[in-house]
Amino acid sequence: MNNDAPATLSAQSRHTRGGSPRNDHIPPGPRGVPLVGNALHFRRDPLGFLTRAAREHGDTVRLTAGRQEMLFINHPALLESVLATNARRFTRSKSKPPTRLDYLLAGGEDVYRVINFPGDEDFWVRERHRFNPLLKGSALARYGPTMVRMAERHISTWQQGEIVEVHREMGRLSLDIVLNSLYGADYPDRRDEILDTCETIVRDITHRATHPFQAPPIVPTRENAKLRKAVREGREVMERVIRDHPEVHDGAGDLVDVLRRAGEAEPDLLRSSEWLYQMMALLIAGHETTAVALTWTWYLLAQHPSTAERLIKEVDTTLGGRAPTKDDLASLRWCDAVFKEALRLYPPVPIIPRMAYEEFTLDGYAVAAGTVILICPWVTHRDERFFSEAERFRPERWLDGPDPQRYSYLPFSAGPRTCIGQGFATTESILAIARISQDYRLELRAGEPPRPAPWVGLRPHNGIPMQVVRRNGN
Ligand code: HEM
Repeated sequence: MNNDAPATLSAQSRHTRGGSPRNDHIPPGPRGVPLVGNALHFRRDPLGFLTRAAREHGDTVRLTAGRQEMLFINHPALLESVLATNARRFTRSKSKPPTRLDYLLAGGEDVYRVINFPGDEDFWVRERHRFNPLLKGSALARYGPTMVRMAERHISTWQQGEIVEVHREMGRLSLDIVLNSLYGADYPDRRDEILDTCETIVRDITHRATHPFQAPPIVPTRENAKLRKAVREGREVMERVIRDHPEVHDGAGDLVDVLRRAGEAEPDLLRSSEWLYQMMALLIAGHETTAVALTWTWYLLAQHPSTAERLIKEVDTTLGGRAPTKDDLASLRWCDAVFKEALRLYPPVPIIPRMAYEEFTLDGYAVAAGTVILICPWVTHRDERFFSEAERFRPERWLDGPDPQRYSYLPFSAGPRTCIGQGFATTESILAIARISQDYRLELRAGEPPRPAPWVGLRPHNGIPMQVVRRNGN
């Protein structure tokens, strides 16, 4: 990151579509409704709204939600500026440390911390390095057998021909993988309960992000009561994980070991309950997005039988009937291309927000401190300027084609706040796709096509029912 970079950027983009060159200093944008601005249209169909906004107004679009000023940007040069070159000028969440009033309105510190992940930005930026070694290199090779074992345990419960709801199934699998690999915990009997708890929290975060006018969590509504209960339950699960965790793990070290070691050196750190919430946040971030990615991958494979055939052939030829390991990833190139393409068409985090800490100039426009910057991988990934036949599922683009333009492909974001779980997610997903494909095909049933619901993660609205068909027919 170039910290000395001037706080300006002239993108080469300049409204290449849908408009004459700019001649004033307010970015173009769709007209809003008095008082609420663009909030209602955005909320009704965020991805459709942003797609139209980019098409009609160009790469820098002004939006408002109530009194909140927002800029939606959609050009790799602008994305690089915000996510990487000038990253320190932006925050992911609130720009100020929480006050007593914030805690009070949230109905307690617990609730505040959970719905405002990553909370204290400085804390997280400082502490992120502690988690990093758990999600990279040799650690990933260590988790490989657990990831495959979880996939095997999971499909052992499937009955030939049964209809499963794939998003729920992939949620169960990715939760088991994260809990077993990173937390050294296994709670198959409480899995659905933990998923429901996480879902309530994610639903609430999404709701707050998309509804400008709403009651703070302290107000005794039914939703707020559910949120408080979910936060309490999430906290209990994390406390149980720490309690159940053996003092000496298998020596390799997982998240709980890392926290315990940190606690020996800096007892003050662990006395703050911040860690519990970071653990909860990592559990949610670590399973929700992967579940979504795997769900759309199965959906796309079922829609494209020749792609699925090629995948099965690659898996059979590479593995010859044995279980996959991390070392096989380099050979499973079609699996990798399929997964990358699924992340392009259905990025599990379809909207990445930032907030400007300070005044800034972007694409020639003055951006006031407090402005929200919206980045939408869904829109950028489907832009013909950056991906040919952008709406088509074409995994071969990742094998034969040129690399995409830098900062045009952002399923894991980019810059210093990029997803720390990218390697973990890719490893678990490809191992799971390969292992499940050895035994099963997942087939779509006739019915309405699934609708992506842009929550914090791009879930399919009402799920996707699919039939599990054993490859050997028994
Ligand atoms: C396919 C699966 C995944 C996708 C698509 C994904 C995507 C993302 C994205 C887009 C961000 C936002 C970065 C930003 O604001 O710039 C993010 C953040 C994060 N992800 Fe992932 N993620 C995935 C899996 C995981 C996994 C498996 C873990 C952990 C085990 C994880 C942990 C995190 C954490 C802790 C953050 C916050 C990073 C920070 O603020 O510094 N993610 N992820």
